Amino acid sequence: MSPTRRNLILCAALAAAARLVPAQDEAAGMKNFLTVFSQRQTVRRYKPDPVPEEALRQILDAARYGPTCMNQQPWKFLVVRDRAKIEAMKKQTLSLIEKQFESFAAQNRDLKPEELNARKERSLQFTEGYFTAPVYVVVLVDAESACAEYALRHDGPIAAAYLMLAARAFGYGTAYLTDGIPDSVTRDVLAIPPRYQRICITPVGVPDGWPRKQEKRKLEEIVAWETLEGHPPLKRLPYNP
Ligand SMILES: Cc1cc2nc3c(=O)[nH]c(=O)nc-3n(C[C@H](O)[C@H](O)[C@H](O)COP(=O)(O)O)c2cc1C
Repeated sequence: MSPTRRNLILCAALAAAARLVPAQDEAAGMKNFLTVFSQRQTVRRYKPDPVPEEALRQILDAARYGPTCMNQQPWKFLVVRDRAKIEAMKKQTLSLIEKQFESFAAQNRDLKPEELNARKERSLQFTEGYFTAPVYVVVLVDAESACAEYALRHDGPIAAAYLMLAARAFGYGTAYLTDGIPDSVTRDVLAIPPRYQRICITPVGVPDGWPRKQEKRKLEEIVAWETLEGHPPLKRLPYNP
């Protein structure tokens, strides 16, 4: 082969490689991105390590990119790091659990006291864990926005999911909490005006160990191609957090 022809082939190969590398990088980046989805888990106990402000800002920023009804972007993300407020929420939540158990016990007199106590202890332990994170984000939507009903049903939960995935990309745990930290507690302690409706509250922090993964349904069970005819209905899954 002549030196000129060899150089031409070399140049062509280099040009092809130059085009390929970014594409491969992009594919690798996408693969990493997709693993974030399967790695997100509900974390119910955290280490006290702080979340740096810059990371927190990027996590909150990710939530802004979700789709919203008529592009109204009707959210407020209330960030809470003040330990006094977190402790106040904990106190109120624990006292609500105590009360709930009193009425549960009154309605279930056939249950043995040991069984009742075991349930209560488990519930209190879970709840205590919810309050171990250094940061909380209350995801709210504006009930006076142009698409208020859709904000509550769609825009808010989508934004919460984006936020939780972004947190996972940074290695942080989250938990989409509803009853776990009652709405009445956040509204009272954080003085949330009636105009804003809560979607959820999520802790953000370093997990005190990643929990055992929850069972996920197989793709074939939930994906129907073209028709639902002959597709079996879903069976109830056990809930064992
Ligand atoms: C609408 C909704 C409400 C939830 N409320 C609570 C809650 O109050 N307390 C809690 O510990 N987890 C709560 N979770 C988290 C679920 O229990 C959790 O997502 C589920 O068990 C699956 O586990 P995974 O998130 O680790 O995949 C809630 C999740 C959703 C979507």
